[in-house]
Amino acid sequence: STDVSDVVVLCGASGDLAKKKIIPTLWWLFRDDLLPSNIRFVGYARSKMTVQNLREKTEPFMKLKDSEKAKANKFFDSMSYVQGSYTDKSAFEKLNKEILGLPNGCNANRVFYLALPPTVFADVTRNIHDACMSKCGWNRVIVEKPFGRDFDSSAELSNHLAGLFREDQLYRIDHYLGKEMVQNLLVLRFANRLFGPIWDRNNIASVMITFKEPFGTKGRGGYFDQFGIIRDVMQNHLFQVLSLTAMEKPVSNNADDIRDEKVKVLKCIKPLTLDDMVLGQYVGDPEGEGEAKEGYLDDATVPKGSVTPTFALARFNISNERWDGVPFILKCGKALNERKAEVRVQFREVPGDIFTPGVVKRNELVMRVQPNEAVYCKMMTKTPGMNVEPIETEMDLSYNMRYKDVKMPDAYERLILDVFTGSQLNFVRSDELSEAWRIFTPVLHQIEGEKVKPIPYKFGTRGPVEADDFVKNAGFHYSSTYKWVNPNL
Ligand code: BG6
Repeated sequence: STDVSDVVVLCGASGDLAKKKIIPTLWWLFRDDLLPSNIRFVGYARSKMTVQNLREKTEPFMKLKDSEKAKANKFFDSMSYVQGSYTDKSAFEKLNKEILGLPNGCNANRVFYLALPPTVFADVTRNIHDACMSKCGWNRVIVEKPFGRDFDSSAELSNHLAGLFREDQLYRIDHYLGKEMVQNLLVLRFANRLFGPIWDRNNIASVMITFKEPFGTKGRGGYFDQFGIIRDVMQNHLFQVLSLTAMEKPVSNNADDIRDEKVKVLKCIKPLTLDDMVLGQYVGDPEGEGEAKEGYLDDATVPKGSVTPTFALARFNISNERWDGVPFILKCGKALNERKAEVRVQFREVPGDIFTPGVVKRNELVMRVQPNEAVYCKMMTKTPGMNVEPIETEMDLSYNMRYKDVKMPDAYERLILDVFTGSQLNFVRSDELSEAWRIFTPVLHQIEGEKVKPIPYKFGTRGPVEADDFVKNAGFHYSSTYKWVNPNL
């Protein structure tokens, strides 16, 4: 039948996020027949343009193969574009008419994807609510960060949204929740007898959650400077990973049981203070190549003399029976020496060591989020051959080796699909958000109020040396004797 079953309305269709991420992702899902077959897309934005214009802007990001041309035509044939203001209700009435004009448009489900700057967010959501909700099908709203910039502004936004939509209609995206290894945390922890019983303060010495990027702001400094690395990465992406690593076992694996546990563990964390942090800002490396020559402050879009951190390390204590006293160290930064995101659980020493002192090193379980998903466990084994001394080795589950033919979907692909199936497991609930802001807001205000100076670090390094010293003092043992060799490289 030609009846339309689902409509995706993309607000902010002419913007950067839409072009680079959302439209390409919708295309990959469409190409792979994962979306409902009678779906339609409606782009909405202020600019005067056509679907053809949108296609030209987007295609460079779609990784189109020649053999996919016909299907891509079909994809863009399913798209229409409505131009309108973000503040006028009448413009949204026009958008609604467009949807109602589609075959069966009245009954179709509606997904509203808000790829918008925060400045127009309140108006758009109100107008969608007042003029564009389906009366027969379901309505779901996908929201992108920033979800406010501190506790109060976030609460205001949440209240505004709560006045318009039910929580089960709201899909707040944190794309880290769409990553393979982040989703795997639940399975590794709760489907293995091997880890469950030792996942606590009696056996674990520290947990380190790391995010590193080898590039700077890439001209996005104007946006970045209003937020800084703590809001951009730590308060959201790394905190989601922390919650999943530290939470108690949920009653079931359904979305709200899991999110209840994530909230609960966050409630055991006190607001962060400066004593538990190291802040950094990158400077250019005169010997570096290209972008590396430029420091953060050399980005023309960054305000002069900005003290916005591009690197942050923070230590948290989770004051509950499972974790009290175990440092959770979160580290994130731009313009560092490599691209890497991982969770590293370091175990305590073996009590009553019978081997040559200093030879036996702590076990570590590492969940590598990217690049090249892997779970590996650093452990001791007898030196193979005549030698009987223990040596460090690893049990290595590298996905590229073990699951050669599996296509890893992009985080956004999984998350957008979840919206269609109505699964909120991998979306941020408003109470999670508010707990995270409670923990970060005082220190963010202090950093901004007192203009706390970040420590300069050179582009392409590990970040400030002070951060490495902090980690050592916090109880994480780095044994330089061993390095996991990524078999994929
Ligand atoms: C975004 C941040 O949320 O995540 C960016 O705004 C960052 O600054 C990006 O680069 C990292 O995502 P990924 O998936 O490349 O690790």
